Amino acid sequence: MRIVGIIGSGTMGSGIAQVAATAGCTVKIYDTNKDALNKSKSNLERILNRLIEKGRIDSEEKNRIQNNIRYVNSLKELSDSELTIEAIVESLAIKQKVFSELEGFVSEDCIIASNTSSLSIAPIASSLQKPDRCIGIHFFNPAPLMRLVEVIPAIQTSEEVLEKSVSIIKGWAKIVAVAKDTPGFIVNRVARPFYGEALRIYEEGIADFAAIDHAMKTIGGFRMGPFELMDFIGNDVNYTVTETVYNAFYQDPRYKPSFTQQRLSEAGYLGRKTGKGYYNYKDNKNVSLSAVEGSFNKNNAEEIFNRILVMLINEAADALFWNIASAEDIDNAMTKGVNYPKGLLAWADEKGMDWCVDKMDELYDEYHEDRYRCSPILRKMKRENKTFFN
Ligand code: NAI
Repeated sequence: MRIVGIIGSGTMGSGIAQVAATAGCTVKIYDTNKDALNKSKSNLERILNRLIEKGRIDSEEKNRIQNNIRYVNSLKELSDSELTIEAIVESLAIKQKVFSELEGFVSEDCIIASNTSSLSIAPIASSLQKPDRCIGIHFFNPAPLMRLVEVIPAIQTSEEVLEKSVSIIKGWAKIVAVAKDTPGFIVNRVARPFYGEALRIYEEGIADFAAIDHAMKTIGGFRMGPFELMDFIGNDVNYTVTETVYNAFYQDPRYKPSFTQQRLSEAGYLGRKTGKGYYNYKDNKNVSLSAVEGSFNKNNAEEIFNRILVMLINEAADALFWNIASAEDIDNAMTKGVNYPKGLLAWADEKGMDWCVDKMDELYDEYHEDRYRCSPILRKMKRENKTFFN
């Protein structure tokens, strides 16, 4: 049986441990904080009991999963792992320190992976004597429910480590998208306009939060509108991801963070977790802040949806243009990682390249901002009368 070491027993580490244990691996999970380990254990008990209540698993399966996980008190106990996945604080210096310490205990061919969502893999790998064994294995929250895992080889990673990592993760019933080691990988890059363009439309006074959410849900078929989703993720977390991606791209205006979200974040209007964000969640009222202010009225749902959609398509196309991932992986990433109703490149095919290019050019003509530059790949496909898929 495969032995998997997990470092960090917080939200992500616990979820990944559950996934690996369910797939039949022996999992050893380590955390510097004893309370975090205890909490991880009791949370799993609760989660599995709920699965029993729902009839998804029986008590035998619960025991099997629990018996596959050991909660350990030192990093050294991960020494017989074939694969280790780190899910600790998002700090390069701390990750580097833990990785170089871990390498002293594990075997020559143990894969050492990081679940980081915003750091590059190359500098993490550089802390190892054998950097070719390091790779990014990026799960989405909640790990047991989200099908997608992004696998990110660093420039140091060997082909063998990439292949083995992909094969192990596929064996855990996950869908793998391989991404280049660039800011935001696939999902956190391609999804930016969903939030950014929605915020911009609001800031321009075109529509209020509720109208924009309504357009994305009813016309686009998105499960949640951008503002509902930002409130769900937390405005502090979502703002930080945007700011990180923006700075990592040397302030490319396409990823520019919004003052509206920054103010909400500063005010502590973080969303569901604080009871107030773009909407008010106290007393189950669910009232949009701007609806309360009653300041915006004119909205054209179709136009709002098309503007956000074309910006998303442009971002997905540009990720393909820069060889961040294959067309299949880019579309899978968005449908399986963040539940988009359709892959964005498939959506581009459906709308037609003429529509995509014309819409982007309309925005550019209107604003003359670099933010609205059309990806060269869309122009090329239009010229050559091509589609992303057959
Ligand atoms: P968390 O705060 O829930 O858990 C982190 C855990 O690591 C804590 O229990 C902490 O005690 C432990 N820890 C800190 N330093 C340690 C060390 N030196 N050795 C061992 N354990 C240590 O954090 P979360 O949300 O689980 O995130 C962990 C990682 O996963 C981060 O790199 C984050 O960027 C990434 N990630 C987070 C996602 C999310 O939605 N929360 C999604 C995908 C990736």
